[in-house]
Amino acid sequence: MAQNWNPSSWRQKPIQQVPDYPDLAALAATEAQLATYPPLVFAGEARRLKTALANVSEGRGFLLQGGDCAESFAEHGADNIRDFFRAFLQMAVALTFGAQQPVVKIGRIAGQFAKPRSSNVERQGEVELPSYRGDIINGIEFNEKARIPDPERQIMAYRQSAATLNLLRAFAQGGYANLDNVHQWMLGFVKDSPQAERYRKLADRISETMDFMKAIGITPESNPSLRETDFFTSHEALLLGYEQALTRVDSTSGDWYATSGHMIWIGDRTRQPDHAHVEYCRGIKNPIGLKCGPSMTADGLIELIDILNPANEAGRLTLICRFGHDKVAEHLPRLIRAVQKEGKKVVWSCDPMHGNTITLNSYKTRPFERILLEVESFFQIHRAEGTHPGGIHIEMTGNDVTECTGGARALSGADLADRYHTHCDPRLNADQALELAFLLAERMKGGRDEKRMVVNG
Ligand code: TRP
Ligand code: MN
Repeated sequence: MAQNWNPSSWRQKPIQQVPDYPDLAALAATEAQLATYPPLVFAGEARRLKTALANVSEGRGFLLQGGDCAESFAEHGADNIRDFFRAFLQMAVALTFGAQQPVVKIGRIAGQFAKPRSSNVERQGEVELPSYRGDIINGIEFNEKARIPDPERQIMAYRQSAATLNLLRAFAQGGYANLDNVHQWMLGFVKDSPQAERYRKLADRISETMDFMKAIGITPESNPSLRETDFFTSHEALLLGYEQALTRVDSTSGDWYATSGHMIWIGDRTRQPDHAHVEYCRGIKNPIGLKCGPSMTADGLIELIDILNPANEAGRLTLICRFGHDKVAEHLPRLIRAVQKEGKKVVWSCDPMHGNTITLNSYKTRPFERILLEVESFFQIHRAEGTHPGGIHIEMTGNDVTECTGGARALSGADLADRYHTHCDPRLNADQALELAFLLAERMKGGRDEKRMVVNG
């Protein structure tokens, strides 16, 4: 077990991004109450995810992580969850085919409620109020009452997470994730896309493979792995009082686990090695993520890896890189080289969202082309360094929103006002998310075909 660590040891450390709760007794009472509630996930599942990620870190798998920037209490309908899952699974199929490797599926969901903010206050005209910090903390409405941090929201977030996770588990194991279904949805997407011609090639090859499997008797009826999938949850472990309340000892191993989700990550703003968020995360055994932005130095990264993964366990640590399409070439190679030189085992994942945010017509948006560019550079750099581009981490929704520009439907700045629904950052809509998966799958497949030709030719 981590030395001098316990679930509350983070409280002795400096901390960033803490909400200013007016009633600390009420906060303590809520945390005590949460501590009596059942865990949302169990340790065995987190271990299983760690094993899957260990394979990714060794080049035998690909990680797909995605979901809302921030979940909200207002949008907690079954349709939302279903539509997200539907888009996500289609991406997973395309990527599985493209990579010819298992895809580890992790949602930013069932717990992704707390947001770090660049400013403690938000100003509109003459009025200044505390910033919105996510539904688990305060309300998004711009009025004084809504912006007061309310502990009761933690209970609501817990209950919403439980209900969301329940439905996701049912979908993943109960037949909805049947590969035949997902394949049919995918064909529908391709047929309706303005880029249908381009995507059809890949879709046809997947169809042929499905037909071939059927012909030799491998069907969802005969084979549970074709009708079920492993789906895991994740969120940023920002609100540490909530995380602590859900930190439990696993009776089989005696180890501490965060039971608020399978994987949790540390944000780029809260990764100071001697601060609270790193302290909390070093002691729990879940797989964890670490966001790496342009300010991450090679030495700083190695220091954090030593703290967070002292045993150099494969699958424990995923580095989620978010540099921006124009900065990735400047920053990623030096981090890869440092990690290689020290022999550290990590999963390299690309978050092409957070470094590519711009303001257009006073909307925060992200051009699809830049998102694609960052992922492509990420792949190229890994190929050049001889390391495995292990995955992507994206903000997406299953709905037809207009938050990111570009894509096959060429959303423009003028379209943003139509359906701009996000509670925080702009997300890829279902079509854009699927396009990204298809374009990546095509590229991965192309890269392999090339290699094969070199070997055979
Ligand atoms: N069980 C396999 C997997 O999860 C195959 C599979 C079944 C699948 N349903 C799926 C893959 C939906 C992607 C999407 O990889
Ligand atoms: Mn975000």
